[in-house]
Amino acid sequence: MVVNRTQIRNRIDTFTSLPGLPSVIGRLGEIFENPSLSLREIGEFLATDQSLSSRLLRVANSAAYGFMRRITSPTQALLLLGLSTAKSLLLQLAMLDTMERVLGGLWRHSLANACAARAITRVKGLSTPEDVTIPSLLHDFGKVPLAVLWREEYTKVISLAEKHGMPMFQAEKELLDVTHAEAGAWLAERWNLPGALVESIRYHHEPHRSKTFPVQTALVHVADVLTITCGLGFSGSAHVPPFSEAALKTVGLDGTDTEEIVTLTRVLLEEAEGTLADSEEPPEQPL
Ligand SMILES: [Fe+2]
Ligand SMILES: [Fe+2]
Repeated sequence: MVVNRTQIRNRIDTFTSLPGLPSVIGRLGEIFENPSLSLREIGEFLATDQSLSSRLLRVANSAAYGFMRRITSPTQALLLLGLSTAKSLLLQLAMLDTMERVLGGLWRHSLANACAARAITRVKGLSTPEDVTIPSLLHDFGKVPLAVLWREEYTKVISLAEKHGMPMFQAEKELLDVTHAEAGAWLAERWNLPGALVESIRYHHEPHRSKTFPVQTALVHVADVLTITCGLGFSGSAHVPPFSEAALKTVGLDGTDTEEIVTLTRVLLEEAEGTLADSEEPPEQPL
């Protein structure tokens, strides 16, 4: 093993700006670590990044959030979404291009996961105390620091997973002694992201270990397996993992409404891809 677990942990703990990652991610990280910054100051920072703020406005104005009035400035979006949701959403939006570059299809897989989680909550009438969209969107984002920081090793991870048809986390564990679930959770913790997000990232492949946010974690897990089964996007491996029986029980899925959930997932995914398409109009007001 060329790198070890401690080295990876240390490197992720000092993760700010990295070659190959947009500098805005490092700057967002610095902002997240400074609890004394006001919403207005964060909004002003966002206004300096046209692409990120226009994506934030598109998503905030999309049907997913359902606000009655049109949101025209990043500060207004932060106020309406709440700081903790906005922080996680911004991180995801900033990661969008990088995710796709690191692993083609990963962004679509993440978006499909969020749509599947939403479809399950809708069809099953589940209400969760915490939003499940962001944890679903970010569940695999630990692959980004691993692939960017240990590029050569991660290429071998992908080949190993492909050659033996094994899950990515297993290939990562074998070659790096760290999984993307752990790496993502470490980074989310370091950036003070919400507990439900940290826990569902950490345990999305072993949902039975989630003790504080079992429903969100089970939802992210079930949505993940469903997305992989349906071939929506690409998570890095063709391996189709089994559903955790306990997670299926937690979200109340018994196979009778799978078809309805899959159909709704596809509809929501098409809608979401339309919302984020780069060809969309820029925001109405100067940022
Ligand atoms: Fe994963
Ligand atoms: Fe995944």
